[in-house]
Amino acid sequence: MPMPLLDVAHLSQRYRLPRQSLWRPAEEVRALDDVSLRIEAGRSLGVVGESGSGKSTLARLVMALERPTAGTVTLLGRDLHRLAPAELRRARRDIQMVFQDPYGSLDPRQTVGRIVAEPLSVMDEVGADERRARVAQSLEAVGLRAGDMAKYPHEFSGGQRQRIAIARALVTRPQLIVADEPVSALDVSVQAQVLNLMRDLQRDFGVTYLFISHDLAVVEYLCDEVVVMQHGRIVERGDTAAVFHAPQAAYTRTLLAAVPTL
Ligand SMILES: Nc1ncnc2c1ncn2[C@@H]1O[C@H](COP(=O)(O)OP(=O)(O)OP(=O)(O)O)[C@@H](O)[C@H]1O
Ligand SMILES: [Mg+2]
Repeated sequence: MPMPLLDVAHLSQRYRLPRQSLWRPAEEVRALDDVSLRIEAGRSLGVVGESGSGKSTLARLVMALERPTAGTVTLLGRDLHRLAPAELRRARRDIQMVFQDPYGSLDPRQTVGRIVAEPLSVMDEVGADERRARVAQSLEAVGLRAGDMAKYPHEFSGGQRQRIAIARALVTRPQLIVADEPVSALDVSVQAQVLNLMRDLQRDFGVTYLFISHDLAVVEYLCDEVVVMQHGRIVERGDTAAVFHAPQAAYTRTLLAAVPTL
């Protein structure tokens, strides 16, 4: 079997809650409990599950934004949580993230050009000219204009801001984009545009997504495979079509039953 792009093995994360009383030990939440999954290059994986099931925790650990209690995250053969800081910095070019909130995730005081260029700061070999060229390319890839570089986020709509966030994620030409509810803050009509864009990028540039959503229809549209999470554990996994058309776990059936039909 070829080396997977991403290999998550036995990943667990516990958070200690603030102590309620001097006389009792602090309680813990098992946000993630022994989660293992793999993503092959070019095969996007969806993660679905109710609120609090551990989806964003998984995303933060895959991005190495925090350390897990146990388990490993291996990107292209490198165990991210065991890399020295300088190596982790270099590894970051291969993995970028798009967040849910296109208002909060873009610094309002920075120009779009600086925002989109920011992930290039880990690539010392990219000089000023190439940086500009890459930012322009990224903006064009998401349907914006190179001239938008000089503008500020407040000059754009929610959908356009999410395009800016996607342009930023593309600028290092990453192998993997982790998208945590990237369209749930957008109007339904704008959601479709952003999803179409993400799908085009998948087709044109071979972008692989770890795509988190509580919206099963969105995952079905974009992902080859899906894992279903409940209480920090994976309760079902498989090809998206198979899982959605013949769910095995009772919990998946409940999730599917909760989807409003259009
Ligand atoms: N930093 C933290 N400290 C304490 N508890 C946390 C922390 N981050 C997450 N949790 C808890 O871990 C569990 C999983 O949270 P997480 O945000 O990963 O869920 P989620 O599936 O992303 O939910 P949502 O769909 O609402 O975004 C929840 O019980 C949450 O309250
Ligand atoms: Mg979340």
